[in-house]
Amino acid sequence: MTENILIAIAWPYANAEIHVGNITGSHLSGDIIARYHRLKGNNVAMVSGTDSHGTPVTLRADAEGISPEDVYKRYHAGFLELFQQIGISYDLFTTTHTQNHHKVAQSIFLALKENGYLYPKKSMQWYSPSANRFLPDRYVEGTCYICGEEGARSDQCDSCGNVLEPEKLINPKAKTGDALELRETEHFYIDLTKLEPAVANFLRERSGHIRETVLGESLGKIEAEGLLPRPITRDLDWGIPVPVEGWEHKSLYVWFEAVIGYLSAPIELSQIKSTPDAWLDWWTDPKARQFYFIGKDNIFFHAALWPAELMGAGSQFMKIFADKEEPLTLPYDVPANQFMNLEGKKISGSRNWAVWGRDALTRYDPDALRYYLTVNMPESKDSDWDWEFFVAHNNNELVANWGNLANRVLSFCHKHWEGKIPDVDVSTLREADLNLLSVIEAGFASVGDLLDAVKIRAAINEAMRLATEVNKYLDTSAPWKELKVDKNEAAKSVYTALKAIDSLKVIFAPFLPFTSERLNQIFGYETPLFGKQFIETIEDNLGTHTALRYEGIDKMQWKPSELKAGVAFNKPEPLFKKLDKEIVEEERARLG
Ligand code: MF3
Ligand code: ZN
Repeated sequence: MTENILIAIAWPYANAEIHVGNITGSHLSGDIIARYHRLKGNNVAMVSGTDSHGTPVTLRADAEGISPEDVYKRYHAGFLELFQQIGISYDLFTTTHTQNHHKVAQSIFLALKENGYLYPKKSMQWYSPSANRFLPDRYVEGTCYICGEEGARSDQCDSCGNVLEPEKLINPKAKTGDALELRETEHFYIDLTKLEPAVANFLRERSGHIRETVLGESLGKIEAEGLLPRPITRDLDWGIPVPVEGWEHKSLYVWFEAVIGYLSAPIELSQIKSTPDAWLDWWTDPKARQFYFIGKDNIFFHAALWPAELMGAGSQFMKIFADKEEPLTLPYDVPANQFMNLEGKKISGSRNWAVWGRDALTRYDPDALRYYLTVNMPESKDSDWDWEFFVAHNNNELVANWGNLANRVLSFCHKHWEGKIPDVDVSTLREADLNLLSVIEAGFASVGDLLDAVKIRAAINEAMRLATEVNKYLDTSAPWKELKVDKNEAAKSVYTALKAIDSLKVIFAPFLPFTSERLNQIFGYETPLFGKQFIETIEDNLGTHTALRYEGIDKMQWKPSELKAGVAFNKPEPLFKKLDKEIVEEERARLG
């Protein structure tokens, strides 16, 4: 039975480069699970895009004196390059600045409005008389009137996590330096209080498989404090126009519309592939599993606001948009990660206390970075990127345990069996050989079950344990010694080890796709493990945008090796590089 799997990854703001914390937090974790399900033969859509609207982008544009559109396009181009280089295999990585996304977001808004979940309300907002405009959200900072911390934004305090009423902010200052005054404005609010029972129920139903850390931040908070209505429009002209007469000069709130990308991106993908109804697989199949990979700061928006939008808009959206009666499928899991620090301190882009993805790729191989980011993923608590551990994990595990195993056995075989898999009669394999093969075979279930449950660190550790088992087997069977005594016996050991390595290649593939693919080529397979990533340019009435795409291999490959005895393979080469300890100090010197 193939399953419909939606891998939904937080849309990065177009106001900063992506660093290792962002990669491990959402993009890489989602990619590993997407690749696993593709190898299982499931129907996967992995989507995200650049979060291009809102004050995060307009503020940067103001600071640089260029247009928000230019800002978004510059960062977007960098994101595409990074994801291609490090193998984050988006079926579609698009942007919120597309005609399709605007239309889908406006339809959700209208469906919520028709269903009675939106209402307009007047409020006071900070206004700059000199700039002649309202200054929303991040434009105004001050002291939080709830927790007393400085640097709170006018609409939200990052220290205590509370939503703020702009007029109550203590000591408000405009980031632009403008003088401020309070003026009355009007916005649409989403009535989350009305939707609260449905949202709480939705979370309770999933409490068996959603991480405790995520439930605490969502259901726990809702049970303690309840859900309050939130404004979902802004006085900002860079964004999606509010689709109500007389409101077109205001925009949909960036968080309200960005989450809708999880729905609009599969729709865009279906259009690109000329299969216009394909998105229904992930959005109307009640059994489809949707996984949302995000950082802990995004939990409210994905575990409360987004399900509220989906339940509130529901079949009304389908009627407006697709002329169908079904409700929209709700998220299955929201595997939010905690944060990754760097050398003991919080990552900070502005202070250059960061390891930037594209920069790191100029010095290290993608799978080396992926490996450390996976064993060090902040799944249940904050983790720390430490250059010393990066070198240690690379040299002691990736190179010494897995890489050397593959390279050593393949080279030995290539040399002594004329570039062919030993032509062994499999009925003559010994007990130890069969034992090893069944241990490795069981790995498809053990690693598979862990990945199915999004326990990524446990899954990669289990894969490494299997590599250790093969090394132990070789220490005992010692084919280099057997060779001197009886080449037939040595052949059995080499054949067995190669079968195990060929299987491990698949088990490691979700984590280490580049080296597994190379190993697959060395073994001489014609069908690759994975498809290809490429950049596409798409035109619509907002202009052109670029997108990262992936075209897959339609085949179930998550199964033990079917390597045939006696067939030729290609000359092996080392998969991983040992790293010099000196890089630790070099890298530390780059920080700050
Ligand atoms: N842009 C937000 C951030 O970087 C994440 C948005 S996720 C989305 O924190 F779903 F809303 F797009
Ligand atoms: Zn606060």
